[in-house]
Order: sequence, then structure tokens, then C-alpha cells
Amino acid sequence: MYKPLIDRLARETVLSREEYLALIENRDSCREYLAEKARAVREQNYGRDVYIRGLIEISNHCKNNCFYCGIRAGNTCAERYRLTPDEIINAANSGYALGFRTFVLQGGEDGYYTDEILCGVISEIKKRHPDCAVTLSLGERSLESYKALRDAGADRYLLRHETTNPEHYKKLHPDGMSFENRQECIENLKALGYQVGVGFMVGSPYQTAEDLADEMLYLKKLNPQMVGIGPFISHKDTPFRDFENGTAELTTFMLSLIRLTLPRVLLPATTALGTVEADGRELGILAGANVVMPNLSPVNVRKKYMLYDNKICTGDEAAQCIECLKSRMKKIGYNTVVSRGDYKNEV
Ligand code: SAM
Ligand code: FES
Repeated sequence: MYKPLIDRLARETVLSREEYLALIENRDSCREYLAEKARAVREQNYGRDVYIRGLIEISNHCKNNCFYCGIRAGNTCAERYRLTPDEIINAANSGYALGFRTFVLQGGEDGYYTDEILCGVISEIKKRHPDCAVTLSLGERSLESYKALRDAGADRYLLRHETTNPEHYKKLHPDGMSFENRQECIENLKALGYQVGVGFMVGSPYQTAEDLADEMLYLKKLNPQMVGIGPFISHKDTPFRDFENGTAELTTFMLSLIRLTLPRVLLPATTALGTVEADGRELGILAGANVVMPNLSPVNVRKKYMLYDNKICTGDEAAQCIECLKSRMKKIGYNTVVSRGDYKNEV
């Protein structure tokens, strides 16, 4: 019954709010067909290649207190760490040898990392590995800071918007954190010429099916180069400890909707998806995702970057992680590639 709607989405790359909502609410009856179409669009644009990004978790210090997040400032149980510039550069060097051509520097909002420190790290990585892309995921910073980091060589920035509904935003964040500021940061990043990634958690507390339909309209309008989504997973030392986790089932459905709405988007099958379901990342790729982000952080800090309970891949060496992912992708007929994996602009 929903096939004509999905066919139209595949053709026109957009639906109305009501139509997205109808698909989301009736997903049991159309999930397979939607995934099939999403896979086809993904293969038209990116073949069966899977891009890998080396994730370096540079710090778990954070000044914010997002209610969902395990490294929030208020979590006194978190054992804090930060990597030195040399440790970050060494992680990138070993990643390069393993075939990574994109490094993602992610962390809490940690004032220790001034522009000066970060610019030094970015330009050193770019100098040593000019064929690599540097992606940052360091939260909200000033326009001037984003500009300095871009001038130092940063190519991409991931800043999940978390939700497109300002009321919902307030339920996920304490007073003092602002929906408007986050949106402004995203606009600034775009204006500075970054390849920009936004995203949200699926099944986060208080999220409705209507919110998810609105996410699709938001993404269509913004047209970002990357979208990161993963299930919400509760963390025992946060105010959201008692909320249900998001599901792989709804997350993969949303991945397929995103692939059909933004056919060329770079779309990761996230670690969170691999945490709620043992083969979550494979399911994500089969739903239309085309990126995976193995962990390149030094093993001694991995367990400390605990955004949510039971996070996977916190004990393995980087080399093991990449081998494991390669073989997982191969088993489902996809190939991880040695490439920067840039967004493909329309020709
Ligand atoms: N501080 C940076 C920022 O705010 O963008 C980057 C780090 S932050 C931990 C990265 C993302 O992790 C957030 O945007 C959020 O969507 C996700 N995240 C945090 N807590 C989570 C949880 N409990 N379950 C799933 N994802 C979570
Ligand atoms: Fe800052 Fe999660 S609250 S990274």
C-alpha cells in the first residue's frame, strides 16, 4: 500500500510531513521495500564502497550537561582524560598506516583545546598526510574559532543539531544551552565552507513520530553533506538513566528515509547502532548507510569516552577494529576503501 509513496520519494527525493509520518507510523508494512530502494540509490551514487573514518576521542571533559550524555559535566563518576597534541597526531599516524584517509577529532566542549592548540594539531596532521581529510566534532565554538580551524586545514565539521523541535531541545538540555545557538553554529560552519554534518538520536526521550517527520523536512531544507543518526542509549549516571533505548529497527528505517531524501549524503552506520544490535552496523549499511567510523583512540582511554552504557569496541586495538569491520562489510557484499570519501557534488 505504501509502495507508490516510496516510489515517489525515490523519484522526487521529498515527501510532505504527513507522508513521511504515514511511512514512519506504518513502517512494519514497508520496511523491506524502503530499504531496497535506499540500497539502490546508495549504489547508484557510491557503489558498494564503504568509507572509513578514524575516530579519535580527544577529550571527555565537557562544560555542558546534556541530560542524555555520559560525559556531561555533572557526571562525577566519569574518569576524565584528555589527549595531548602528540597523542592525537600519533593516533592519526597509526591510522594512516592502517588505511584511514579521514580523521575525526571528537570530544566534549573542553576549554583546554584553544584555537592555538587545535590549529597546531590540524596543520601538523595535514602537513604529514596531505591526502587526508580532517573532520572536527568539538561542539559549539565561536565563528572566529571555526574560521581559524578551517584556515588551519579542517575540512569537515560534525555538529548534530539533536532535534529540530525547540520544545524537544529544551527537554534534552538544561537551561543555558540554546537551540538557537546550535542552529547558528551550523549556519556559520556552512558559511565557512566546511562539509557539514548534522544529526539526531533516534528514540530519544520525548521524541514523537511527528518530530521524526519534521527531521526529514529539516534535513531536506538544510541539505547537509553528512548526517549522523544513532539510537539513544541510556547511561546509568545521567538523568535519563531510566529511559528506554532507541531501537535498531526505527534507526535503520530512518537511515533509509534519509538516503532517499538526500541521495548523495555521507551516512554512517554508527557505533550506537552496533551497540543496540550485534549486527547493527551491517543492518545500517543494508538500509542505505555508506560510512563506518572505527575507533582510533588509544586503548587506555576508550572506556572513559562512555557516552552511553555498553558501548562496543572499547577494548580492541585500532588494527583489530578495522579488520573486524572490513570482514563484517565483506560478509554482506560491501568493501571498505582507502579514500578520503568526500561528498559527491552533483555533476
Ligand atoms: N561535544 C560535541 C558535540 O556536542 O557535538 C561532540 C561529542 S557528543 C558526545 C557527540 C554526540 O553523541 C552527540 O551529538 C549525541 O547525539 C551523541 N550522544 C550523546 N549521548 C548519547 C547517548 N546516551 N546515546 C546515543 N548518543 C548519544
Ligand atoms: Fe558535552 Fe556530552 S554533554 S559531550
